[in-house]
Amino acid sequence: MTYCVGLTGGVGSGKSTAARLFADLGAALIDTDAIAHTLTAADGAAMAAIAAAFGDAVIAADGSLDRAAMRARVFSDSSARQHLEHILHPLIRSEAQHQVAVARAPYAILIVPLLVENLAAYRQDMDRIVVVDCDEQQQIERTASRPGVSVDQARAILAAQSSRAARLAIADDLIDNRGGLAELEAQVRHRHQSYLTHPEKM
Ligand SMILES: Nc1ncnc2c1ncn2[C@@H]1O[C@H](COP(=O)(O)OP(=O)(O)OP(=O)(O)O)[C@@H](O)[C@H]1O
Ligand SMILES: [Mg+2]
Repeated sequence: MTYCVGLTGGVGSGKSTAARLFADLGAALIDTDAIAHTLTAADGAAMAAIAAAFGDAVIAADGSLDRAAMRARVFSDSSARQHLEHILHPLIRSEAQHQVAVARAPYAILIVPLLVENLAAYRQDMDRIVVVDCDEQQQIERTASRPGVSVDQARAILAAQSSRAARLAIADDLIDNRGGLAELEAQVRHRHQSYLTHPEKM
């Protein structure tokens, strides 16, 4: 089995940027968000179950998931949200496991944005957990720098996630992304060297 480093961090903390730097150094990149998109594309493996559970109102004309409609549907309905997660999460996890197993790299970086919330499902798949961290104000600024995302929306996303302390508590390794990109790159290089030696689970 390919050595697997789980990578997480709060919204806008720099997960994608850090993961890209690991990939540049030769790690295999496995992104659970990308897997979720594939599963909910037209003809995606989750679409039949989603259509059966939620009806045509959440299916776009091309057969893919209508994300806006689905968000509205689950927004104030926690049992609908649980039902959707119950459909998606096992499929995401098994596809992630498959991609780790077939990865042709010294190790894999598995990005799970909401790892604290889903730790029970993923912990046994991961040899190590690295958390990308920065100040909450930076998370908000970096998230709101994205086109179409307001500061208020960024704050709301942050508030809905697990706490910074809860993320830090599951970290075997920490990447401090409070500094600039050069500092981030230096830390990724350092961690990369250590992951090549496949350090044992803590
Ligand atoms: N050290 C840094 N200094 C300045 N900007 C940064 C730094 N790290 C990341 N950024 C910028 O902040 C934004 C968010 O970074 P990134 O997309 O990597 O975060 P993320 O954790 O993947 O976010 P999301 O939770 O939305 O997926 C991007 O525009 C990125 O270029
Ligand atoms: Mg990202």
